[in-house]
Order: sequence, then C-alpha cells, then structure tokens
Amino acid sequence: MKSALVTGGAGFIGSHLVDRLLAEGWQVTVVDNFDPFYDPEIKRKNIAPHFDYGSYKLVEVDIRDLGALREQLTGEYDVIVHLAAKAGVRPSIRDPIGYQDVNVRGTQNLLELAKEWGVKQFVFASSSSVYGVNPHVPWREDDCVLMPISPYAATKVAGELLGHVYSHLYGIRFIALRFFTVYGPRQRPDLAIHKFARLMLKREPIPVYGDGTSRRDYTYIDDIIQGVRAAMDYTKTQYEVINLGNNRTVSLMELIRALEEVLGVEAKLEYLPPQPGDVPLTLADMDKAGKLLCYTPVTNLFKGLFEFKKWITNVN
Ligand SMILES: NC(=O)c1ccc[n+]([C@@H]2O[C@H](COP(=O)([O-])OP(=O)(O)OC[C@H]3O[C@@H](n4cnc5c(N)ncnc54)[C@H](O)[C@@H]3O)[C@@H](O)[C@H]2O)c1
Repeated sequence: MKSALVTGGAGFIGSHLVDRLLAEGWQVTVVDNFDPFYDPEIKRKNIAPHFDYGSYKLVEVDIRDLGALREQLTGEYDVIVHLAAKAGVRPSIRDPIGYQDVNVRGTQNLLELAKEWGVKQFVFASSSSVYGVNPHVPWREDDCVLMPISPYAATKVAGELLGHVYSHLYGIRFIALRFFTVYGPRQRPDLAIHKFARLMLKREPIPVYGDGTSRRDYTYIDDIIQGVRAAMDYTKTQYEVINLGNNRTVSLMELIRALEEVLGVEAKLEYLPPQPGDVPLTLADMDKAGKLLCYTPVTNLFKGLFEFKKWITNVN
C-alpha cells in the first residue's frame, strides 16, 4: 500500500485529493492546523468521510512547528503533497509576515523533513499568481516570475526556489504545480464563485472589483486533482514547474452571467475599485502539463458551475 503525507488535507483542494487517494487504496496522513482563515467547521465537514477509512490519519499540527512535526509523524511516506498554506492574494497584503511564516518557513520545514526521512517525491502547490502582470499570454512555465505583485505570490515563488535547492542537494524530486483559480464543491468561501453564489442566493449585492473586465482561467477541482495525481507518479526528471489551468480565460462579467444562468438568480452588482495585488488576466499555457502529466482539463465552466451549484444548495 502506498503512503502519502498531505499537508492542508482538510482544505478545499486537499480534501478532494484525500477522497481520491483513499478510494485508490493509499495510506494517507493529513497534517492540518484548521487555520481560522475561514470557518474550521467547514474543514471538519470536508474530512468527515475520511475517518471511515482505517488507512486515514489526521495529525493536527502547525507546519511552522518543526519539532511537533518530527514528533508526530512517522516519516514513512512515498510522497509528500504540500498544500498547506495561507492562501489568497488580498489577505496577504494585510498579513505579509504571517504569509511568509507559514508559506516559506512552513514549506522549508516540510522539505527538511523530506530530507531527513529520505522521501524522494515532493509535490508543491504553487500558484498562477507567481506570473504577476506578465503581458505575454498564455503564461508559460519558462516565463520570468521575478516580479510578483503580492506577498502571497512572492511566498509561492520562494517555495518553488526552495524546492529547487532541496531537489539539487538532496535528490528530492520536486514538482511545483501552478494552480489557476480552482473552483468546485467545497471551494474556499473567500473566492469569487463561492462568495458570489452565496450572496446571489440571499438576493444580496455582489462586490465587483474594477469594471468587470478582469479575466481568470478558472479550473475545475476534478481536473486539478487529475493533475496532482499525475504529478505524484511523475518520475522522468528531478525538478519541474508545471501549470495546471484550463487554457481558457473568462471575464468577471462573463462569470457573473454564467452564475446567473446556473443559479437562476439575477445578480445585483456593487462596483468597487480594483484591489491592489489583483492581476488583470490569468491564462495558462497547458503544453507542458499535457506532455509531462498527460493533463487534459475536461470540465467547462457551465458544467463546473452546475456541480458547484448542486453542492452549495445542499450545504445551505
Ligand atoms: N484554490 C485556488 O484557487 C488556489 C490557486 C492557487 C494555489 N492554491 C494553493 O493550493 C493550496 C490549497 O489551497 P485551497 O484553496 O485548498 O486552500 P484551503 O485554505 O482550503 O486549504 C489550505 C489548508 O491548509 C491548512 N493550513 C493553513 N495554515 C496551516 C499551518 N500553518 N499548518 C498546517 N495547516 C495549515 C488550512 O487549515 C487549510 O485546511 C494552497 O497552497 C494554495 O496556496 C490554491
């Protein structure tokens, strides 16, 4: 039986990955501190079904606490999937030191442990935000990412760089996956689709930052999990940075219109100034993910929003 350590395994993306790994018969250890960035009860609900599996173990530890991680984890893992982080661009501007602490020091703690334990495969959740306001679309992994525009983005660049150091020095295969705006059931409540849907269902106005022309490459959770799983099995090279997106960019206004159609509710819009740290456009070049991971996103926006609607109308 293969064994994985999944940090952040109680969160949105992590809990979906754990669903998949347990169903496939993996031994899964989750490290999560139930950070109060959003209601920890949501995360408890995410993981409730995981306790049905004898092969599941939850360790409630903060990834900043290297001593506790050493003490409470066995180190017997085939692969570490490091998803735990303080997530989100805007909140990182209010708490840059906290983001640095969790996302950079915490990531280095996990890399140190991979070194000590001899774990040879490390998958890291990076982000499309590392591209900053790169005007060359679609964004390719070999584009320069040395001009991030938010503390969050800078911590993800730092994580990719630390991964290179540990990969080079200690032979740890390090795969950084740059996720592009992930959505679907259990999506974080601070993210646009979830936030908008909740407000629309209550017939309340939704905040539209800027003029609605900003564009995002929205990627459905099942597609992301397909990419993460492939990265866990990838063995061809020692260090890779790979986009996981949807290869299609949708404007904020198009997203709102699609949500109106799927939810059957007309949105009330409250226009607000653009937010510092937000980029005007994200769009992934998917060639590398296709070649290295056989990654092909298959979920279009309407199908993905429909699945999201089924979930959100059930949990409310
Ligand atoms: N959701 C997206 O669109 C998106 C896009 C790009 C990158 N990412 C990255 O993917 C990863 C997962 O994101 P998500 O959307 O599932 O977020 P999430 O907040 O739902 O999940 C992150 C999990 O990490 C845990 N965590 C936070 N700080 C911790 C700490 N100090 N110690 C232990 N656990 C801690 C949280 O409790 C949470 O359960 C993150 O690294 C995020 O930066 C997400």
